[in-house]
Amino acid sequence: MAKKRILTGDRPTGQLHLGHYVGSLKNRVRLQDQYDQYILIADVQALTDNFDNPQKVNKNLKELVYDYLSVGIDPQKTTIFVQSLIPQIAELTVFYLNLVTLERVLRNPTVKTEIKDKGFDKNLPAGFAMYPVSQAADITCVNADLVPVGEDQLPMIEQTREIVRKFNSLYGEVFVEPEALLGDVPRLPGTDGNSKMSKSLGNAIYLSDDRDTVSKKVMGMYTDPNRLHPTDPGNPEGNPVFIYHEVFNEDKSEVEDFKKRYREGKVGDVEVKKRLAEVLNKMLDPIRERRANVSSHEVDTILHQGTEKARQTASEVMSRVRSAMKIDYKI
Ligand code: TRP
Repeated sequence: MAKKRILTGDRPTGQLHLGHYVGSLKNRVRLQDQYDQYILIADVQALTDNFDNPQKVNKNLKELVYDYLSVGIDPQKTTIFVQSLIPQIAELTVFYLNLVTLERVLRNPTVKTEIKDKGFDKNLPAGFAMYPVSQAADITCVNADLVPVGEDQLPMIEQTREIVRKFNSLYGEVFVEPEALLGDVPRLPGTDGNSKMSKSLGNAIYLSDDRDTVSKKVMGMYTDPNRLHPTDPGNPEGNPVFIYHEVFNEDKSEVEDFKKRYREGKVGDVEVKKRLAEVLNKMLDPIRERRANVSSHEVDTILHQGTEKARQTASEVMSRVRSAMKIDYKI
């Protein structure tokens, strides 16, 4: 039996960080043996809010491949490809736009928040508002079964499932309804205590950060704001330093001990943070080492071959779509 398929992706607008790692990347590495996995570099989607800055998208495209390889994505098992080089995605998007209402796309909670954060107001670009529809095309262009993502992407998968149901009921069963797969930590807070680590909020620790950068970021992390002295009783709950310890520190008894001493005012922030920096650096060291061994030529080859393979798969899916939609004219 053929392996089930995974499709997931990232916008090339910056480097990947610890939130991506625990939200999705670890799942991708874990599942690449069992599944036929595709990772899409979403340059078309990145342009929906960076159309005036294509240089940014261009500059970050190959960086994503370095990130993938550094965490252990194996290009022999995973097909890495570029969205804009798969015309079938654009075709599918046009057909899907008939299957969603304007009202429905604007109700997507992630898109709603983004529209607000970006201050689009009356100048909302239609392409941006519609990107979840294009994301449905990303996922279904390989007829994916599973989509490993962080929590903010759940509304996109939900919308994809609706489009698939609508398509199948109108034109016949072509697509599977894809399932989302959340990581162990669906949403990692930022170093500033914001509920989400994000490149746009400037509160991220990147997989490509060197040791010193990680240490500096950790030492500057937000903690319990009511604690002025190491002898004050502190609150580890909702405190990002402790959340990171719980996520990344494998020595669970050390974490419990830190928490206990923190509550009692018997440990300083500096000690807890220093240890966290060590834990993160130890985890990131092998990732840094793998990154250092990737060549630019290798990245080009991976993207070239991956895109060829994805195009082949997408064109097989597209002929089924054309036939179902009665636009497979024999002319
Ligand atoms: N919207 C995703 C993000 O911002 C990136 C993305 C594009 C994606 N296409 C996708 C994720 C398809 C999963 C599946 O991170």
